[in-house]
Amino acid sequence: MGHRARGDEADLRRRVMALREELRRHNYYYYVLDRPRISDAEYDAKLRELARLEQVLGEPVPEDSPTQTVGAPPSEKFAPRRHGVPMLSLANAFSEQEVIDFDRRVCEVLGRAHCRYLVEPKIDGLAINLRYEHGHLVYAATRGDGRVGEDVSDNARAIDDIPWDLPGDVPPVLEVRGEVYMSHAAFAALNRWQQAHGERPFANPRNAAAGSLRQLDARITARRGLSFFAYGAGLGARQLADSQAALLRRLRAFGFPVQTTESADNVAKLLRIYREWRGKRSALGYDIDGLVYKVNAFADQERLGEVARSPRWALAHKFPAEEVTTRVTDVIWQVGRTGAITPVAVLEPVRVGGVQVSRATLHNPDEMRRKEIRLGARVSVRRAGDVIPEVVCALDAGEGRLPEVPTSCPVCGAHVIHQEGEAAIRCSGGLSCAAQLKESLAHFVSREAMDVEGLGRKLIDRLVDEGMVHSVADLYALDWSRLAAWEGLGAKKIANLRAALARTRQPSLSRFVYALGIRHVGAVTARALAEHFGSLEALLRADVEALQQVPGVGPEVAASVHAFFTEPHNLAVIDALRAHGVHPRETVSRRQRAHPLAGKNVVLTGSLERLTRREATERLRALGAQVRASVSAKTDVVVAGAKAGSKLHKAQELGLRIVDEQQLLRWLEEAGED
Ligand code: IVH
Repeated sequence: MGHRARGDEADLRRRVMALREELRRHNYYYYVLDRPRISDAEYDAKLRELARLEQVLGEPVPEDSPTQTVGAPPSEKFAPRRHGVPMLSLANAFSEQEVIDFDRRVCEVLGRAHCRYLVEPKIDGLAINLRYEHGHLVYAATRGDGRVGEDVSDNARAIDDIPWDLPGDVPPVLEVRGEVYMSHAAFAALNRWQQAHGERPFANPRNAAAGSLRQLDARITARRGLSFFAYGAGLGARQLADSQAALLRRLRAFGFPVQTTESADNVAKLLRIYREWRGKRSALGYDIDGLVYKVNAFADQERLGEVARSPRWALAHKFPAEEVTTRVTDVIWQVGRTGAITPVAVLEPVRVGGVQVSRATLHNPDEMRRKEIRLGARVSVRRAGDVIPEVVCALDAGEGRLPEVPTSCPVCGAHVIHQEGEAAIRCSGGLSCAAQLKESLAHFVSREAMDVEGLGRKLIDRLVDEGMVHSVADLYALDWSRLAAWEGLGAKKIANLRAALARTRQPSLSRFVYALGIRHVGAVTARALAEHFGSLEALLRADVEALQQVPGVGPEVAASVHAFFTEPHNLAVIDALRAHGVHPRETVSRRQRAHPLAGKNVVLTGSLERLTRREATERLRALGAQVRASVSAKTDVVVAGAKAGSKLHKAQELGLRIVDEQQLLRWLEEAGED
């Protein structure tokens, strides 16, 4: 074959590749997003051309060529993806001194007087890993736990800033890392839409970005206008560049949006750049929550290595929460889920941290008095990340009048209680107070809890106001025929809501526990409780002592959980939920559940020969048993070793089951623990 012919063949191959890519994109627009960008006729013409050229080329046609596949196979939603190189997080600094210390450590390790840094804004969004093989985007994954993330490929493809193909010379495998975020403009538009459709507005652009990236339906992601900035690379980084600055240049050349960066070779310059950016941040059009200082040379980064899952070569220098001034026009009292009545300042609207703010919390009456907030006063307001806006301090006395603290609940009229040692005042009405009930319902259905889509605030208000719902359990026994008559609730919405509720009948135990809205039990504690006890039954049986064995659960939380699960009204609600078919999934393995000791209260006494007390305790816990210090009527089994004393006597008195070490060993063996 002459030169000419080989050149033609290369051209042909390129054309075939380009057509395959183009058609894959159109498949995605058509099948995944439901939004074709070309007509069917144009699509067919391209597909026919590809088929013809593949034949002319005469090479085996790969299975994934659009001529061989129908439509675009959606990626398996949220399937786990192991990152080629772990995704680390950054150590934070809040003061200049911490930055000075960081620079000193870096210089010490490198054995130099100065080090060169690259300074980048720290975008407040969420990290994503884009894996390219031979220049093609094969998948996108969230950060997850840093080693394994979740596949969000279809959603990432809907972000215009993310290229599907990289031009030119690309390493065979390249992991591009960056931040998915939502601009202030996209955020404002999204919340307008949410409100117009009776859906919950998002608290801030980062939550909105996170919620949008983890949509099951990529069409929703596509509508939400997410953006992306690249700031690094995992696998393949070293093949692209030998410094952070050079890497960012290469990424920009591939078509990725990259932020403006600055370079500095001493700490004074770092701090100067920080002060400049602190003033510029509000004009950016998207949220940044600090700057990142990165040692520029990769060789130096490698020498510095990492500690505790953060690189020693980088530091996030956080900005303080943004503060603005406005005026208090009124103070209203809001009743929360647990009955706490919170003073909320109504403000002349201002923009702070990228969102329009017209209300800010005053926390509790004591705080309000301490800060001497008066009606009409000018105040300083701040919004920090996730936190709801708060009034920081009063700047003048306004009209001079202090707001009055209510003595009865502004919603149900029940009297207000002020407990010793507590700053909050509370409504005594419990769930008979419509406000508390509405808040509990909103919490129960929220994203992090049972995640019932389509049950917005307006609908909850109406369900409560019309007396159709008196507890969260009533959601599973709604009179749908009555709802069908309501304005604004078409057959489709009702069907969706029914399906959404049905989907939550087998929640994970941790979601369920969180959804119950127990005081002091956030999502993290709920997970710890679920993992420790494994089943709702075991959790319901746990006493304060057992609860305190859960990592992260102290006396206050344990008391709150115990009080919740002994309160008759709460137990009735849980029973009703079960009666309506809501059964949280158990979290212990089947083997553990099947074991005769699972969920049993066990007391060890006397000395064991073959096991230490500690080993025995750990192995019993691994089987789902609860190991207690003292014998009571609730004890299921007492394991008595040699020289067992008073505990054994008590067990005999109570007629409890008593076994010896041999029996314990047999049980452990049965479980395959030996
Ligand atoms: S570098 C090993 N650069 O901050 C370095 N991160 O707390 C890993 N982030 O998970 C990240 N802007 O989501 C880096 N310019 C930037 C960043 C940035 C935002 C986020 C990212 C990361 C988190 C670390």
